[in-house]
Amino acid sequence: MSRPPLNLAEIEAAGLAALSPMARDYYAGGARDEITLGWNRRAWDAIPLHYRVLVDVSTRDPSTTVMGCPVSLPVLLAPTAFHKLAHPEGEAATARGAGAAGAAMICSTLGTVPLEDIAAAAGGPLWFQLYVYRDRGITRALVERAEAAGYRALVLTVDAAEIGTRERDAHNKFALPDGLTVANLAGTAKAALGPGGAGAAGSGLSAYVRSQLDPGLTWADVEWLRGITALPVLVKGVVRADDARRALDAGARGVVVSNHGGRQLDTAPATADVLPRVADAMHAIDATAEVYVDGGIRRGTDVVKALALGARAVLVGRPQLYALASGGAGGVQAMIELLRAELLEAMALCGCPDVAAITRDLVEPPA
Ligand code: GLV
Repeated sequence: MSRPPLNLAEIEAAGLAALSPMARDYYAGGARDEITLGWNRRAWDAIPLHYRVLVDVSTRDPSTTVMGCPVSLPVLLAPTAFHKLAHPEGEAATARGAGAAGAAMICSTLGTVPLEDIAAAAGGPLWFQLYVYRDRGITRALVERAEAAGYRALVLTVDAAEIGTRERDAHNKFALPDGLTVANLAGTAKAALGPGGAGAAGSGLSAYVRSQLDPGLTWADVEWLRGITALPVLVKGVVRADDARRALDAGARGVVVSNHGGRQLDTAPATADVLPRVADAMHAIDATAEVYVDGGIRRGTDVVKALALGARAVLVGRPQLYALASGGAGGVQAMIELLRAELLEAMALCGCPDVAAITRDLVEPPA
């Protein structure tokens, strides 16, 4: 019997081995030269933790709240598309795993299980990620369905006016295999995602986004979204302080500092590098604004660094897919438990009995 994975890198190796070549490239790949993909990871590694000593850490509590939802640790599952590429039960299995670990999951518009079925399977809080269709009626209907199904927040992705070219997907002519659809739009022509054609548009996702999603989105649309929902809105894909301030002006309750896992604009900055600027700008205006971050988070120490730099919680993307591919719902739960164990260890060694004690001085120590 093979030994259980010890860390997220081992889960990644098992997941990659379990996936089809097309799915593997789709999940693992980044835009163009994949520079940002590498920077995201390395930026966390490059931050030293200036740990405190002689703090009583005999009990440690990693629990927190995210947009008012209690969660057992400051780790959410990032919105990621097409989970049935990884496992036959798709997003329903991911949601079960997240719920069993007491974590929140952000479900993608581009799921392969309808959002209501994910909600029926989930044991923990769910948020819904929105792509805005050219046909606003589709987006409005998705928002109404998410509210009705009990989703607790909306996460508007704003870094995808087009899909950044993932050259691996272009080569593979990425498409959903027979039987898989954009399940939230089942029964409409917009549920199909076939190959995209020749050249750089060979990725079916790229062709889908070009034909269906609205590249004309502006800050006014954040206000529009705020106006059609009672749910809190977060803006995902921000890397600049001025954009974070605009998000608050437009009525967002928070932002996700993200470069889409290095999948959109290549050579966009690493999220760890821009997080403190964005968090400081937002908290100067509204101390209760919530800032999240994703991109390359693979260790409990990365979670501590993110919180120290101003994040309320982190999002993990690819690891959930590798865990799902190699272990189904149980694999997703185990992945979150590994991060929890690492986080608890890092909190003990940093002198942090709870998340409130994870403060900036851990990364910028006083003289
Ligand atoms: C979808 O959002 C993707 O990044 O592939």
